[in-house]
Amino acid sequence: MSLFGRKKATDRILPEHIAIIMDGNGRWAKKRSLPRSAGHVAGAKTFKTIARYCNKIGIKYLTVYAFSTENWKRPAEEVEGIMNLLRDYLKDAENFKHENIKVKFIGDLSPLADDIKELIRKDEEGSADATGLKLNIAVNYGGRDELVHAVKRIISEGTPPEQVTEKLISDHLYTAGMPDPDFIIRPSGEYRTSNFLLWQSAYAEYRFSDILWPDFTPAQLERAIDDYSRRNRRFGGI
Ligand code: FPP
Repeated sequence: MSLFGRKKATDRILPEHIAIIMDGNGRWAKKRSLPRSAGHVAGAKTFKTIARYCNKIGIKYLTVYAFSTENWKRPAEEVEGIMNLLRDYLKDAENFKHENIKVKFIGDLSPLADDIKELIRKDEEGSADATGLKLNIAVNYGGRDELVHAVKRIISEGTPPEQVTEKLISDHLYTAGMPDPDFIIRPSGEYRTSNFLLWQSAYAEYRFSDILWPDFTPAQLERAIDDYSRRNRRFGGI
């Protein structure tokens, strides 16, 4: 049975939309004297485990930050490693579409390699009818960049200024039609939002923790959800 909106003291309230900044892969690898790429490999495994777990417990939306508009500044080898992980994930025969998970990539996908863009297209198409978790994977995503794209589209559509509303802006973001994230989780001990879902996070609850992303488990997600469940969200009211 769905737990959304249930208010009994014994029940917890599940966030409808969880977003995660998957941070700490590099430090996880360093602690083990491994190359940074090993951290990303471990992080990609954690990503799959957590996405499957969210689907299992009935979370409706999960958005993960896989690669930011700023991540291109990293050494070419590291960028290539992350892109290869993305390729592997997209080619994986055990992909989420067999698990009723609907996948969408958000971000400016135009600079990605053509084969990745084609795999993304197939993945999105192949999972379009899934009715379980809606999984957004943010690649070459930046909150400011997203707003710039939205404004450009709004202007190019010839919208008069008086018709520019919050809803119109929301409808021009990569997340158009989705509820805003209720709960944003950032592991790894960093207390920043790093250009993630800038507009959509206006009323999100945040949870920061010291765990490095590859060590993040379903049990930690459960703890985070319990924490969320105890918070009293007022959306500016009283
Ligand atoms: C941040 O950790 C992590 C990234 C920039 C990459 C995240 C990518 C993955 C988890 C793999 C994604 C794969 C798929 C299939 C979606 P960091 O490298 O900044 O860690 P550090 O702060 O410890 O150096």
